[in-house]
Amino acid sequence: MSEKTNVSDFTLGWEEWVALPELGLPALKVKVDTGARTSALHAYNIEPFGTDKRPRVRFGVLPVAGRDDVQVICSADVIDRREITSSNGETELRYVIQTHAKMGARSWPVEITLTDRTAMSYRMLFGRQALGDDTIVNPSESFCQPELSYDLYRGKAAKSDARRALRIAILTREPNNYSTRRLIEEAETRDHVIEVIDTTRCYMNIKTMSPEIHYDGKRLPYFDAVIPRIGASITSYGTAVVRQFETIGTYCVNSSEGITASRDKLFAHQILARNQIGMPTTAFASSPKDTKNLIGLAGTAPIIVKLLESTQGKGVVLAETQKAAESVVSAFRGLKADFLVQQFVAESAGEDVRCLVIGGKVIATMRRRAAKGEFRSNLHQGGVAESVRITKTEREAAIKAARAMKLNFAGVDLLRSNDGPKVLEVNSSPGLEGLETSTGKNVAGKLIDEIEKKVRMPVPWRKSRAKR
Ligand SMILES: Nc1ncnc2c1ncn2[C@@H]1O[C@H](COP(=O)(O)OP(=O)(O)OP(=O)(O)O)[C@@H](O)[C@H]1O
Ligand SMILES: [Mg+2]
Repeated sequence: MSEKTNVSDFTLGWEEWVALPELGLPALKVKVDTGARTSALHAYNIEPFGTDKRPRVRFGVLPVAGRDDVQVICSADVIDRREITSSNGETELRYVIQTHAKMGARSWPVEITLTDRTAMSYRMLFGRQALGDDTIVNPSESFCQPELSYDLYRGKAAKSDARRALRIAILTREPNNYSTRRLIEEAETRDHVIEVIDTTRCYMNIKTMSPEIHYDGKRLPYFDAVIPRIGASITSYGTAVVRQFETIGTYCVNSSEGITASRDKLFAHQILARNQIGMPTTAFASSPKDTKNLIGLAGTAPIIVKLLESTQGKGVVLAETQKAAESVVSAFRGLKADFLVQQFVAESAGEDVRCLVIGGKVIATMRRRAAKGEFRSNLHQGGVAESVRITKTEREAAIKAARAMKLNFAGVDLLRSNDGPKVLEVNSSPGLEGLETSTGKNVAGKLIDEIEKKVRMPVPWRKSRAKR
């Protein structure tokens, strides 16, 4: 460091370290260039998003020269678009953002243009405009201000405070339902951009190098996260779309694998059983000739017979006597419908408990109570929902079931039996309305928090994410 002529002046050498904390860049080596008016940041995948009222831009930065695996994804409000002529004489229309620069103890707002020239050895050029009136540039010196280190991108230190705005998609065919509306609301409160994508309007090209997803004639932009809300009627196509997002590298709240498993009731039962999760004794067969024996495998009457494609309680029958059970089974057989026979957990007395699991934690729980004279507690069958406290064993069963199904966001339904909780189902697109209204909890907000946690993990010093 040189002797300073005047302590009150802010002296910079021709190269310095700067931090851009709002962008999640704790250390960048910059070239101070008084020959240039504007400052430029070398970014890649510069992509506009946001609204007309509030245009934003996301971009990647490789802050460490020579380390392509250390990448930081940034987002910022766009304050302008400007024609910029660079030192090599090329003119380019660039996005202009504003953010705080920090050198030593000083922090001040600077305007930065974004340009896609990652080949440059300095990731950032500091132009005249970014220098305050009291700044003196001494071109024969370097690092007049305190030096930083690329180690700031390593490990825990890399967890920046940058509240990067995320671009999130909800895959659904119901843009106006309660859950979709609430997720939009909570994402927007947290300053993210969220779009509703109709799963069935997505089409894809399957290529090794650059898989894409198209939508209404255009290629979809890159999303940081996808919330799949795939209806049961389009599971196969829906999970194919989710898989495509996974291939691209987008974080999917529930994986295609988890959704597929949760939708195949037989498979789901097998997974739960394999993981020693309590569930009602269940028997199933494709075309059981021996009706009596099949029923015998599940127990004795009263017994439950369930159509595999049942939802909202529509295909769930309680056969009170052995005779009734046999005739229901032979009726279903005649319809060539897939079904299962299940032990009736009578002591649960028309009640089941829905546990909402997000990221391995139970976030909200409600009890659904069947209407009088009804054993099915589905809200569609006149059941009522209310908040309920669950036991430690129930909590553990719910978490274990969600984990076994590989679901980050799951509704686990369980019955309270005399020998502990029995899991009935693990739902990969749980509705939020009943849960939020009966518990008063902000479930949608928790899901967005979980997405932030997963997506904002420091990418630096980790090779996992494929470069786009
Ligand atoms: N084995 C059982 N013993 C006692 N009650 C049961 C049993 N199976 C189901 N029920 C009751 O019937 C309701 C509906 O059953 P289930 O959840 O299995 O089917 P569904 O709601 O039609 O399907 P899905 O939950 O997959 O949409 C349950 O919420 C529960 O109240
Ligand atoms: Mg159910």
